[in-house]
Order: sequence, then structure tokens, then C-alpha cells
Amino acid sequence: MRRALIAGNWKMNGAGDAAAALLQVVAKAEPGAADLVVCPPFTALSEAQRLLCGTFVQWGAQNVYPAPSGAYTGEISPAMLTALGCRWCICGHSERRQLLGETDGFVGQKVRAVLDAGMTPILCVGETAGERQDGRTASVVEREVEKGLTEVAADEAARLVIAYEPIWAIGAGQAATAEEAEEACGWLRECVFRLFGRAAADGVRILYGGSVGSGNIASFLAMPDIDGALIGGASLRADEFISIYNTAKA
Ligand code: PGA
Repeated sequence: MRRALIAGNWKMNGAGDAAAALLQVVAKAEPGAADLVVCPPFTALSEAQRLLCGTFVQWGAQNVYPAPSGAYTGEISPAMLTALGCRWCICGHSERRQLLGETDGFVGQKVRAVLDAGMTPILCVGETAGERQDGRTASVVEREVEKGLTEVAADEAARLVIAYEPIWAIGAGQAATAEEAEEACGWLRECVFRLFGRAAADGVRILYGGSVGSGNIASFLAMPDIDGALIGGASLRADEFISIYNTAKA
């Protein structure tokens, strides 16, 4: 039985006092049968460490550079994240792929670096509206998973998290249907089975992301291949985020 996971991706939000205010509410969530993770911007990670340390809530980063140190101006290493208590790192979010040109291969290097640092990668995959219309959803997300996990060994695969995030549903206010999300998450689990075998496919947690809120989270969690959600906009509204988590832990 896979444990449900609710992860918040704040994106480039939460400057100054706003981060502390949000973290203070999240810190009061009651533990239950689900994991709760927040991924604030780098600038709020020390605040996350200060306010969440000692609670069951974990925190992570939205990105990392896949090298231990060196001449990478503006980048952040895996060790810098673990020094701030991060146990999670989002890899290959579609906004980074689209706006910053991250390739499948580079995302794969990040996944490897995150695992090497002892953190859990949340590998994001998802198709554009055009790719879905062309019937290419399965091939796109399978390619992103295969390339993203090229450097992963079979015995590591069960502790990975994959997030299926159709690009057309992100920030759109209109989520995929639970059936559309389940179909894609099923393909992804099948893909992990082909790559790494049954134990990995049964263990890997697959999230849905894209306009998830308290009104639709239950429909996604009811699906056999969906183990939780990666939440953008709704993770910035403390009450809404906690309400989503409370549904998952129930
Ligand atoms: P959204 O974003 O919940 O605002 O749609 C999800 C994401 O990009 O992870």
C-alpha cells in the first residue's frame, strides 16, 4: 500500500513575511495517513527549516544544479539543499523545460544528483494540449520518464516520485478529469514496470498535478494509480492546502 503524498510547489511566490506566514499555518497540520511536503523558493528554505523542523511536515526545493560545487553562477547544489534540511527536490517541472530550456537529459542528471544527495526527486512529466490532441500523450510522458530515469538503478526506483502534470491543466483552473489523469498515471506505472520491474512499479508514487484544489482532490485520490498530488496555486492558500491534505490523510 503506497502512502499518499501531498506536495506544494510555491513556484516564484512567497517573498519575505509571506513565506513565514504560510509556513506557520502548514506547520500546524495534524499528521495522518499521508505525507505533506512544501517546496518554497530557495530564499524561503531556511525559514522552512526553522518553522517546520520538529513537525512531520517536510520541505524541499523546486530545482537543483547537478554538480557538487564550482563555477555555476546563480545555481544551487544538492549539498546546499540538504544543509537546509531539504529531503525533496522537484526535477523537470514543465515551466523549467519550457521557459529555461531544460532537456530530458539534463533533468535526468538532476534526478541522479538528488538521489546521490539522499533526497527524493519529484520528476515532473506532462504533455502540451497540442501533443494530447495529436494522440501523443503516452509517448511524450513515457519518453520523459525513460530519459529522466536513465541513471537510476532498479533498487532505487521504488523510492522515486513521479508527477504527471499535463501542461494544459497547470494554472488553468481546469484540471484533467480523474479518468484522464488515471490513464496517464497508469501508463507511467507500466513504464516503470518495463524499466525496473514489479517491485519498483508497485512502490513508486505517482502524483497528479494541474489545477488541483479541495474540490477535486478526492476524485484523483480515488484512482488506483494516483498516489497524491503536486499542488501549485492552491498551495499558496494555507487553508486550501491544509484542506487538500486533510482529505488525503483521511
Ligand atoms: P497548479 O500548478 O496547481 O497551479 O495548476 C501545479 C504545478 O505546476 O505543479
